[in-house]
Amino acid sequence: MRLEVEVLATSEEIGRRAARVVLDELGAGRLRTLGVATGSSPEQVYAALAAAGARWDGVEVFALDEYVGLPPGHPQSYAAVVDREVRGPLGLDPARVHVPDGGARDLDAACAAYERALEQRGVDVQLLGIGATGHIGFNEPGSPFSSRTRVVELTERTVADNARFFDGPEDVPRRAVTQGVATIARARRHVLIAQGEAKADAVRAALEGEVSPDCPASALRTFDDVLVLLDPAAASGLTERPAGPRRPRPVPAGAR
Ligand code: F6R
Repeated sequence: MRLEVEVLATSEEIGRRAARVVLDELGAGRLRTLGVATGSSPEQVYAALAAAGARWDGVEVFALDEYVGLPPGHPQSYAAVVDREVRGPLGLDPARVHVPDGGARDLDAACAAYERALEQRGVDVQLLGIGATGHIGFNEPGSPFSSRTRVVELTERTVADNARFFDGPEDVPRRAVTQGVATIARARRHVLIAQGEAKADAVRAALEGEVSPDCPASALRTFDDVLVLLDPAAASGLTERPAGPRRPRPVPAGAR
């Protein structure tokens, strides 16, 4: 088990650092599947990956989550965001890019099919952001570490935070399909990115608080191989100032 925390000065540096993890795996022939997050945190990663001009032949991409109920093609649906920010810039085959179907008539069946596809394929590198609530994917506080892909309710805080992508909070869907914590945990490597002071409390809870579903991102401390990339503002709540790689705190018995 390895969990490293690095504090980097700019989002460009964070983007290049995360991209290096992905590109090293790709170059070594070990990247069959890339797990992608949406939102602001990974934008510079995708820019750095696109700038690298790599060949992505055969690589599959799976998104973490999708809103429920947006009309098909809505520009803020994660299908549209992944298409715009990942598929297009990297020149990926659309048939290899997967996003949960938030418009499915039978959402439970769609969730089960997504979970099965992920299980069969396996994710090599999973990119993650963290919500101010401590969510990863859309696993809000209280999400069991054993959770799988399913429909969830977003917290008011998440709705408010994501309102910046819409005309206002009333336009943000209240429900989403998300990979569960256990689904996310299966990836071989994880890279979590957090930037800005608004993430400082969640980052502290994830890295230094109790390992508990109260902070779903604390599950990272039970994963095998995690790199956390922070800007100074997101790292500002940490009491153990990370000076580069450090050992994870022990996980209390029963928290897994
Ligand atoms: C997005 C996702 C979320 C975001 C998180 C942070 O696919 O799963 O967990 O990563 O809400 O969002 P930003 O990066 O916009 O602050």
